[in-house]
Amino acid sequence: MEAILLVGGQGSRLRPLTISTPKPLLPTAGVAFLAHQLARARAAGVERIVFATSYRAEMFEAAFGSHAHGVELVYVSEDEPLGTGGAIRNASRELTCGPDEPVLILNGDILSGHDVRSQVKVHEEAGAAVTLHLTTVDDPSRFGCVPTDGAGRVTAFLEKTSHPVTNQINAGCYVFRRSAIDTIAEGEVVSVERETFPSLIASGSVVMGHVEAGYWLDVGTPEAFVRGSCDLVLGRLESAAMPGDPGERLALDGSRVSPGAVVRGGTAVGRGATVEAGATVIGSVLLDDAFVAEGATVRDSVLSRGARVGPGAVLDGVILGDGAVVGPGNELRGGLRVWPGIELPPTAVRFSTDT
Ligand code: GTP
Repeated sequence: MEAILLVGGQGSRLRPLTISTPKPLLPTAGVAFLAHQLARARAAGVERIVFATSYRAEMFEAAFGSHAHGVELVYVSEDEPLGTGGAIRNASRELTCGPDEPVLILNGDILSGHDVRSQVKVHEEAGAAVTLHLTTVDDPSRFGCVPTDGAGRVTAFLEKTSHPVTNQINAGCYVFRRSAIDTIAEGEVVSVERETFPSLIASGSVVMGHVEAGYWLDVGTPEAFVRGSCDLVLGRLESAAMPGDPGERLALDGSRVSPGAVVRGGTAVGRGATVEAGATVIGSVLLDDAFVAEGATVRDSVLSRGARVGPGAVLDGVILGDGAVVGPGNELRGGLRVWPGIELPPTAVRFSTDT
C-alpha cells in the first residue's frame, strides 16, 4: 500500500521549537517524530510514502533520504502551502497505484496506536470513497465532531459547538480510494476537513468512520509534545523506532546523567546533554547538548539544543529555545517560552501565587 504523509505545516503552536526544525522532525523519544510514524506505517503494510512538504521542505529528504524503516520515500513540495486537501492532491502525482486502490493519508503530528489494517478492511468492505479513523474524547466540545450511523457511515462533519452530538472526533488518519483524491481541485488551497469531507458526504459518496479509541495524541501543542515523548519512553505506546528499551528515562549515547541526579517520568536526554548531581528532571525532553546544573528542577518542560538551566533554577511546563540560558535561582512556570539565544540573568524571574 502507498501512503501520503502531510508534513508541510508551520507548527506555529510549537514555536519556538519549530523555528529551526519542522514539527515532524522534532526529536521525540530520541528520534525524529516521523520515525515513529514510519515504523508504524511499515508495520501496517505501507511500502511507499509520498511526503507532502512545504515549510522547510529540504530538511525532510536530508533527514530520511530515499528509504527509511523499510519504506521507500518520495518528496513533493508545494511552492505555497496548499492546505491539507491541496497537499494531498499535489502529492498524489507521485502515487503509482491504480484508481481503485486504497491510499493511506497520515497527518504528520499524530501518535496513534490504532489498527490501520482494520481501518483499511472497513474501507474495502464498504467500497468507500474515504474511511476516517475516529477516536473518542471526554470533552468533544473542544473539537469538531463526526457522527456516524448504525452501519458506520459518516453522516456529517460538524464544527466545534458547546453541545456536540457525539464524542467521536476526526483522528487525522484517512484511507482514500485513489480516484477520490482526483476529485480534489488541483493547485488550489483546499482543507480536507472543511471542504473535501463535507462535500463528499453532501454528494452521497460513501464516507466511513472506523471508530477505535486506543492510544491517540495530537502532538501539536507544547504540553502534548512533551507528553507524547514521555509516553513513548515509558512504553505507553510501543514504537519500533525507539532507540532503547522503555523505562523511566531514555539517555542517548553521549549524554551524561550524574548518578546523583533524579531523572524519570519518561524523560529523554539527548546526545551531549548533561544533568548534574542534585538536579531533578521529571517528564521532560532534553535535546542534544542541553545542560541542567546541580540543584536545578525541571518538570514537564523542553530544553532545546544547547539550552542551559543554572544551579537551583526551577522550570515547570516551560519551553526553552535553542541556546536559551536560564540563570541560577530563576523560577519559571506555566507555559512560559524562552526564545532561542535569550539569557535570563540570575534570579530575574520568580513565579509567585501572590496577587
Ligand atoms: P499549527 O500551525 O500549530 O496549527 O500546526 P500545523 O501547521 O502543523 O497545522 P495542523 O496541525 O492543522 O496540520 C495538520 C497536519 O497537516 C500536519 O501534519 C501539518 O504538517 C499538515 N499540513 C497543514 N497544512 C499543510 C499544508 O498547507 N501543506 C502540507 N503539505 N501539509 C500541511
